[in-house]
Amino acid sequence: MTEKELCAAAMAAMQKAYAPYSGCCVGAALLAESGQVYTGCNVENASYGATMCAERTALFGAVSQGERRFAMLAVAGGKDGRLAGEFPPCGLCRQALVEFCPPEMPILVVTGEGAYKQYTLGELLPMPFGPAHV
Ligand code: THU
Repeated sequence: MTEKELCAAAMAAMQKAYAPYSGCCVGAALLAESGQVYTGCNVENASYGATMCAERTALFGAVSQGERRFAMLAVAGGKDGRLAGEFPPCGLCRQALVEFCPPEMPILVVTGEGAYKQYTLGELLPMPFGPAHV
């Protein structure tokens, strides 16, 4: 699984987004160390607060399938199904990722067809509160 393939999986997942309220469609593709890819999209709700982000949909789906270790994440987002520039993971998703992913894990933020910017989880959430604190 290459970086570009993972970005393509995130873009495909974005097409599944259920976002009738914000119009922001987000897709995520999470590569587990097992080699399996888990995708997710945002799923909005009329109560707004029950909305789930694409990244956590992918992460929780993977953990539900028995995965605990991850190698790479790609995220794609945009308004009304069309790719926007950078659509980085929100703070809640960064925190959820820290539970299972190392700080050096690459996060690919899709910027266009076949284009992405690469960060690490540690860059996006420095000095995290993690399992070691509890
Ligand atoms: N959203 C995500 O799916 N991931 C993020 O990291 C940021 C926000 C979704 C949630 C909501 O459906 C829409 O984008 C607007 O906030």
